[in-house]
Amino acid sequence: MESKTNDLLNLIKSRRSVRNFVYKKIDNDTIGAILECGRWAPSGRNSQPWKVCIVSHPTVKRLVAEQSKYGGIIESAYLNLVVFLDHERGYDRSKDILAMGAFIENMLLATHAKGLGAVWIGEILKNKEKVSEVFKLSPERFELMGVLVVGLIDLALEKKEKRERRTLEEFIDWF
Ligand SMILES: Cc1cc2nc3c(=O)[nH]c(=O)nc-3n(C[C@H](O)[C@H](O)[C@H](O)COP(=O)(O)O)c2cc1C
Repeated sequence: MESKTNDLLNLIKSRRSVRNFVYKKIDNDTIGAILECGRWAPSGRNSQPWKVCIVSHPTVKRLVAEQSKYGGIIESAYLNLVVFLDHERGYDRSKDILAMGAFIENMLLATHAKGLGAVWIGEILKNKEKVSEVFKLSPERFELMGVLVVGLIDLALEKKEKRERRTLEEFIDWF
């Protein structure tokens, strides 16, 4: 039990953004397992306000990539999970967005647990309406929260960069 807990804590702490991928198919069971972890994320009033477009088709990926300066990363990986907030399910903007963060982080952790790499592209939000239109979704109802680029890690290019974090002392107070 103790070691399982440690495995989970180490998994959380070792997740990192991956931006170099080898283009290779990811099977549908693996994609399903990643989405399944998103599905169990917490949300205010259990509203589950998420909607995901799963993209592996190169033409669709190109249309998404065109909306971001990180288009090269988006196109280089096999899979894009394009994540929207469904305003018809949501009820409070702050809480809905917090739920979406939990949803996305759960999927990032699942990706890491599966030995795959991923990065959350938020820069594309500057063109969020255009991305909704790529999927023929109403931008009023479906608001883009990010694109998760998921793929096999290119170990030759992914360098072991030192990861920086503020210390606990910098942001906690005990009472
Ligand atoms: C809301 C959000 C938006 C992000 N947008 C981008 C992005 O557009 N491009 C990118 O390369 N990384 C993006 N990232 C990844 C962050 O740069 C990364 O999480 C941060 O530098 C910490 O590094 P780590 O994920 O490796 O721990 C984003 C992360 C979050 C949470």
